[in-house]
Amino acid sequence: MSIAKKNAAIAALEMVEDGMVLGLGSGSTAEIFVELLGEQVRQGMKVTGVPTSAQTAKCAKEHNVPLVDPDKVDRIHLTIDGADEIDENFQMIKGGGACLLREKIIADISEHVVIIVDASKMVEALGGFPLPVEVEPFAMGLTVERIYDALAQAGIKNVETVLRPIKRGKKPLVTDGGNYIIDCACKKISDPMLLSGLLNSIPGVMEHGLFINLADTIIIGEKDHAKVMEIVRE
Ligand code: 5RP
Repeated sequence: MSIAKKNAAIAALEMVEDGMVLGLGSGSTAEIFVELLGEQVRQGMKVTGVPTSAQTAKCAKEHNVPLVDPDKVDRIHLTIDGADEIDENFQMIKGGGACLLREKIIADISEHVVIIVDASKMVEALGGFPLPVEVEPFAMGLTVERIYDALAQAGIKNVETVLRPIKRGKKPLVTDGGNYIIDCACKKISDPMLLSGLLNSIPGVMEHGLFINLADTIIIGEKDHAKVMEIVRE
């Protein structure tokens, strides 16, 4: 287990209060948090979690964190999730674990979103990490053409795209929502907000990995401590 990721998760745990409904993100850092949360639950803390993926639900069950259906809660107090890249304006690329659709639904309705990462995730500009775009399999070729158009309109040309395969094999990965992922090697996304809007307007795009204005707190884990940064929005 990465000590930097663990230190970020420990700092996030300090923000959890008894009685909270928590959005539980996906990925290795979020799972470290879930594991630590399970220890608190064993010691008597009363929380419920809304998992953002089947994998996180499995991890939460293994660590005895009680889960609730998102439709059965009237609020999510706090969501803790990881990220693949974060820029200087705290805009993010997520979806390296293919859970972007549920992660964005939960982040969007959460009262507070805490992102836990190690320092390698902080970048000057987004795009070094291939941007995941979740697409409906029906007429995927047409949707991919429109994704290229959107990228070009955002000034991103000659992009290599890959239909994401399953981890060990050649078959396309199918997300929890039954969709495919197209990974777009943008290299540099100069205007993430513009590209986000363009991708949102394509009917076959179910979601994309640009998380705009969704993070409230970023926690960067280091070897021996964690740095907490709050976002100030006007
Ligand atoms: C999953 C995600 C993850 O949060 C992201 O990929 C980071 O994962 P990790 O904590 O394993 O580095 O967006 O869809």
